[in-house]
Amino acid sequence: MRKRIFSGAQPTGQLHIGNYLGALKNWVALQDEYESFYCIVNLHAITLPQDPATLRQKTRDLARIYLAAGIDPEKSTVFVQSDVAEHTELTWVLACVSRLGELERMTQFKDKGKGNRERSSSGLLMYPVLMAADILLYQTDLVPVGQDQKQHLELTRDLAERFNRDFGETFKIPEPFIPKAGANIKSLQDPAKKMSKSDENVAGSIFLLDDADTVTKKIKRAVTDSGTDIEFDETRPAITNLLTIFQLLTGKSNDECEQHFEGKGYGHFKTELAETVVEFLKPFQERMKEYDDAALDSILKAGAEKARSIAGETLADVYRKMGIA
Ligand code: AMP
Ligand code: TRP
Repeated sequence: MRKRIFSGAQPTGQLHIGNYLGALKNWVALQDEYESFYCIVNLHAITLPQDPATLRQKTRDLARIYLAAGIDPEKSTVFVQSDVAEHTELTWVLACVSRLGELERMTQFKDKGKGNRERSSSGLLMYPVLMAADILLYQTDLVPVGQDQKQHLELTRDLAERFNRDFGETFKIPEPFIPKAGANIKSLQDPAKKMSKSDENVAGSIFLLDDADTVTKKIKRAVTDSGTDIEFDETRPAITNLLTIFQLLTGKSNDECEQHFEGKGYGHFKTELAETVVEFLKPFQERMKEYDDAALDSILKAGAEKARSIAGETLADVYRKMGIA
């Protein structure tokens, strides 16, 4: 039997090149080797306030982005989280297995709640429990994500181990898959921060739907470090970040990239990087138009059915072991 992958992204904000390089690109690469489940996690989105019409639209847009990125619905199961009720059902069970203390220690809870416990939704606290349910329902082997999800993966493993210990072997313990390069793409405006959907400064992010002009301007305005060489160098995070984007889009090695820009200045480098990004985005944006509403609906419906058949088995086993059904 092929090993299984599960991953997902939230249908909020605009997907950026960090999401692509840190996550989506690997999802596409892994789908040939693994049985893959790629979810649009709309229930995670509502842990923060969302406008209903926008959320509905973004959910479909994100499905189109998955497909345009190269996720093949013939090979992978693509579905919307809320279409498979088992995700919320298992969340309740795992909520009862989780501890308030461990949830309050999650850095994303503190970041997204801006440290304001009184005003944070309890859904935000439960966010990683819902994520654990997503993963554990499918007896997942591998979870390809960016660096920022590592702590959530560790919690998922802890909850699975605790459940298995208390109720008997039930869940497979999943492994994170965090790429060596690209797992933490930085803001173009501040290389100390990750490129983020929720950054108010849009100049820091290259969005997958940005037009050529916007991309070129953002790259031209990207901050750089002191020094002039175009090299990977931890002490020069801005240029290292830009080179990482170039490297991952061209498939060149570190050495090849450095040789390619040897003796060239920032101006030349930025022009070529902008061209590379634009060349990547153009066909991507074209492919987004390929799926009309009916085609999309049928892919998501088939995906949800497939997902439900597996999730249902795991949930039935969980209930049985707990004395619930
Ligand atoms: P999200 O948009 O938060 O749902 O994230 C979707 C995926 O993109 C997750 O696997 C994240 O870890 C990944 N991701 C988000 N931001 C970045 C970034 N700046 N660099 C690399 N990966 C990222
Ligand atoms: N929390 C993830 C993020 O923001 C999205 C997510 C939800 C996810 N459920 C998941 C990722 C399960 C991997 C597996 O990026």
